[in-house]
Amino acid sequence: MEKIEQKIKKIEEEVKQQIQIINDLKQLEALRIKYLGRKGELTNILRSLKDLSLEQRKIIGPKAQQLKQELDKLISLKKEDLEKRNLIPKIDLTKPGKRLKLGHLHPLTLVEQKMRQIFSGMNFSVVDGPELENEYYNFDALNFPPNHPAREMQDTFWIKQEKTSNSKQNFLLRTHTSPVQVRFMEKYNPPFQIIVPGKVFRNEAIDAGHEINFYQLEGLVVGKNINLANFKFIIEEFFNKFFKGEKIEFRYRPSYFPFVEPGLEVIIKYQGRWFEIAGAGMVHKHVFEYAHYNPKEFQGFAFGMGIDRLAMIKYKIPDIRLFYSGDLRFINQF
Ligand code: PHE
Repeated sequence: MEKIEQKIKKIEEEVKQQIQIINDLKQLEALRIKYLGRKGELTNILRSLKDLSLEQRKIIGPKAQQLKQELDKLISLKKEDLEKRNLIPKIDLTKPGKRLKLGHLHPLTLVEQKMRQIFSGMNFSVVDGPELENEYYNFDALNFPPNHPAREMQDTFWIKQEKTSNSKQNFLLRTHTSPVQVRFMEKYNPPFQIIVPGKVFRNEAIDAGHEINFYQLEGLVVGKNINLANFKFIIEEFFNKFFKGEKIEFRYRPSYFPFVEPGLEVIIKYQGRWFEIAGAGMVHKHVFEYAHYNPKEFQGFAFGMGIDRLAMIKYKIPDIRLFYSGDLRFINQF
């Protein structure tokens, strides 16, 4: 009898202990079967009561019955608890977070930002101008003669105008960033140093080296006693910073642009190859006159370079069309 009472006590302890660490319904059911199932440990005891003497039955019977009720209740409460818990979505707090996929900047933007940063560091201001220009700023005020071939259809996108339009101006998509030179000088007095990054358009056959729209960065520095040595310093400083860590050689070749005199081309040697990289020169006195500056009082230099071209050299991109293709296999490399 002593033994049966001990068994009951042991069952109580075991169940109460085990039920605490159970955390799913399967385990709970296994526990129930083990103790309260048809052949369960407590069930066996209850079944064997009839073999006991009346006296023993009076003592042990109620204890076993009471325990059965208590355990039934415990198990059903635990069951409710587990079922409730199942309704809450399972969150594994130890899992690493999902990375947000961020976009990234286009290679042309990266190069333009780098250029802005270098020129800002040399005290240049960044200036903007319209992409839809008129003939005056794009050509006339830049000293292009009336019959200059660049004005012709094959180079310039002219904007169709209503015959009834009483505008005296012909409109076009700017073919370079130089028109911002005169626009800026009409509004501000020297001394100043500006850069003008922006989009330009040319009506030409598209191939690996040419697009109908691309980007330029114009520079203009005007003040007293400005000369080409100043330009040489600025442009070499710029390229040494842009291709930092690489040895760059410079060559200056006479060239012609109607809005500079003298005009020149900048050629750099980068990784063993020579690249024509910029047009430049001293601002032509006619351009100063269009801007109502006194050419005897002020001098200036101007330069212009292709942002696409710089990006192609820097990243070894063989075809300008890739920039505008929207091809993610290309874009995602930057
Ligand atoms: N605007 C010229 C071009 O597009 C470049 C240039 C700018 C040349 C300034 C001289 C001075 O080719």
